[in-house]
Amino acid sequence: CAHPSAKPESAVSPYACQRRTTLDNHNKIFTDALEVLAENLELCGNQGPSLAFRRAASMLKSLPAALRRLEETQHLPCLGEHSRAIIEEISECGSSSRVEEILNDERYRTMKFSQGNSSHIFFRQCKSLVCHSISYSSALVAGFLFYEDISKPVSRTEASALKIIVEEAVICVNPSATVSITGGFRRGKEFGHDVDFIIKTPEAGQEDVILPAVIKRFKSQNILLYSDLQESTFDLRKLPTHCFEAMDHFSKCFLIIKLKREQETDARAGKDWRAVRVDLVAPPLERFTYALLGWTGSTLFLRDLRRFARLERGKLLDNHALYDKATNTFLPAKTEEDIFAHLGLEYIEPWQRNA
Ligand code: CTP
Ligand code: MN
Ligand code: MN
Ligand code: MN
Repeated sequence: CAHPSAKPESAVSPYACQRRTTLDNHNKIFTDALEVLAENLELCGNQGPSLAFRRAASMLKSLPAALRRLEETQHLPCLGEHSRAIIEEISECGSSSRVEEILNDERYRTMKFSQGNSSHIFFRQCKSLVCHSISYSSALVAGFLFYEDISKPVSRTEASALKIIVEEAVICVNPSATVSITGGFRRGKEFGHDVDFIIKTPEAGQEDVILPAVIKRFKSQNILLYSDLQESTFDLRKLPTHCFEAMDHFSKCFLIIKLKREQETDARAGKDWRAVRVDLVAPPLERFTYALLGWTGSTLFLRDLRRFARLERGKLLDNHALYDKATNTFLPAKTEEDIFAHLGLEYIEPWQRNA
């Protein structure tokens, strides 16, 4: 029967940017399974079908409580026939035979390097190093050289220690620059596959010189294990870029840094440090807010925010700008709140963007 009290605004949105997704996931039993299916498809190169499972998992993560009855899924968006069948099977049998099959599959296990959770991180590492790097081979060599360390998750404590190191180097190069943590740690995650930082320089042009100087300083401190600096290719006249999923054009670098351990946990090898992946980005001041939003993620949240802007609002959003196609103007933003307001969206806090 119809519930007259069920207001349409209480419905779950198909767009992640209209949902609040904290790390408090009440449907982990379903989302873990859907993410295994997504990851398996990605390993096979099926990005399209994989995205459907990722979207289904992401939507379930935003629900305020665990699904109890299967009928509840009737009114939920982002669930295709396959996702529904998996949810049904898990709620009836406790697990999905297809997911179990994948978890036991030789190919999947080999791809994931048969090392449980840490290999997931290593897989991400290789993917991000290879994606970002001009030199595939040197990125892979670095990836394998520090395989053991960089396949271990980075903790929030380690991220804070790195922030002090990065901040010290940045301020030494330019005392008026500031450093903020972004990526997963800004969203409140306790662990990450790397640590992401965004640098704000108050004077024009400084964003181009700061990263080489910071890298030089890390080298002189003997804590730099790998670096791939990408010079800015940002050109205001070429905005808006129409490639939404693509990388931005800001000056950035992908590093592997030696981080001193608190206690010598690896006394056997006499190694008192671990290798950690670090990303730094330095956008021009007037692009800072768009870059901060983009680098805070999550990837799926940003994907949906851009899709929503384009399809529902006729606006183009990327890490550089927000552009209104109707008026052919760029929309200014001093804060992230301004960007959400331009898009007619309720503000979603960073820790609610874990879509
Ligand atoms: N990003 C980006 N442009 C790049 C690199 C990254 O816009 N050149 C964005 C990604 O899309 C993501 C965010 O920066 O939204 C952080 O990327 P990443 O470190 O890969 O993911 P996290 O969410 O931080 O996950 P993890 O905790 O595993 O590091
Ligand atoms: Mn809750
Ligand atoms: Mn990250
Ligand atoms: Mn990163």
